[in-house]
Amino acid sequence: MKSLRLAKKLMIQSPVVTVKNLNYYYGQGELRKQTLFDIGIEIHAGEIVIMTGPSGSGKTTFLSLIGGLRSVQEGSLKLLDQELHGASQKQLVQVRRQIGYIFQAHNLLKFLTARQNVQMSIELHNDISPQETQAKSVAMLQAVGLGPRINYYPEHLSGGQKQRVAIARALVGEPKLVLADEPTAALDSKSGRDVVELMQRLAKEQGRSILMVTHDNRILDIADRIVHMEDGRITSDAITATALTHKPGFLTSLSQNQLETLNRRAL
Ligand SMILES: Nc1ncnc2c1ncn2[C@@H]1O[C@H](COP(=O)(O)OP(=O)(O)O)[C@@H](O)[C@H]1O
Ligand SMILES: [Mg+2]
Repeated sequence: MKSLRLAKKLMIQSPVVTVKNLNYYYGQGELRKQTLFDIGIEIHAGEIVIMTGPSGSGKTTFLSLIGGLRSVQEGSLKLLDQELHGASQKQLVQVRRQIGYIFQAHNLLKFLTARQNVQMSIELHNDISPQETQAKSVAMLQAVGLGPRINYYPEHLSGGQKQRVAIARALVGEPKLVLADEPTAALDSKSGRDVVELMQRLAKEQGRSILMVTHDNRILDIADRIVHMEDGRITSDAITATALTHKPGFLTSLSQNQLETLNRRAL
């Protein structure tokens, strides 16, 4: 019993993402150019982290490394205790299954209905029956408010509705981590806000972590932390008032490192 409690406590404390001394370079030989410099960050279960920074500062590159879409060249990047530096293709595939991706453009397949688009992402997990994938996909589309439109094709959905299908697709596999790269960029401000609030609600209900890149200052308030990147470096990493005022248990979920950072800021 005691060891179970201890194991649970350790699970809560173990970060979903741990990055240390991460560097990344594009190009070869004389054209080789460093894009990320000595990145370090931890993301915890249930945390919503927003990443900001000018265009070209390395945000998408960083997300694609965490997502296992690029190989780690230098430093350490751990996702759910799996080191990605030197990971095999098979290990990377395993890791990618634990992540939900939401991109700027929704990337829906236009010849599939909303339900089929969502379903496709879990059909890749061959341990779930077709009936179950269908039921899960319908439930997820209902959760994002698209119940009446499950059989619509993307061309008959608005921008905001398409992005909500993309959210359903990212969350239906019950990922531990959701990576979102400017998910509201193609939306008007009201639909953008709706989409992000929906992500926030689902993440909190289901204990998912979110790392979201955005240029939209109006949605910063949904974040627990805001990380700023400039010229390939993290130049600030601050816990927001949202985290402190809305979540009484939040402080106890912080790592020693974060508490120290917080203390330094409070001084
Ligand atoms: N595939 C690529 N090949 C070479 N350089 C790239 C590639 N992708 C991005 N870059 C360069 O890396 C830098 C960071 O880009 P990116 O990660 O897309 O930044 P952000 O998402 O913050 O706009 C930029 O200078 C960009 O030109
Ligand atoms: Mg980008």
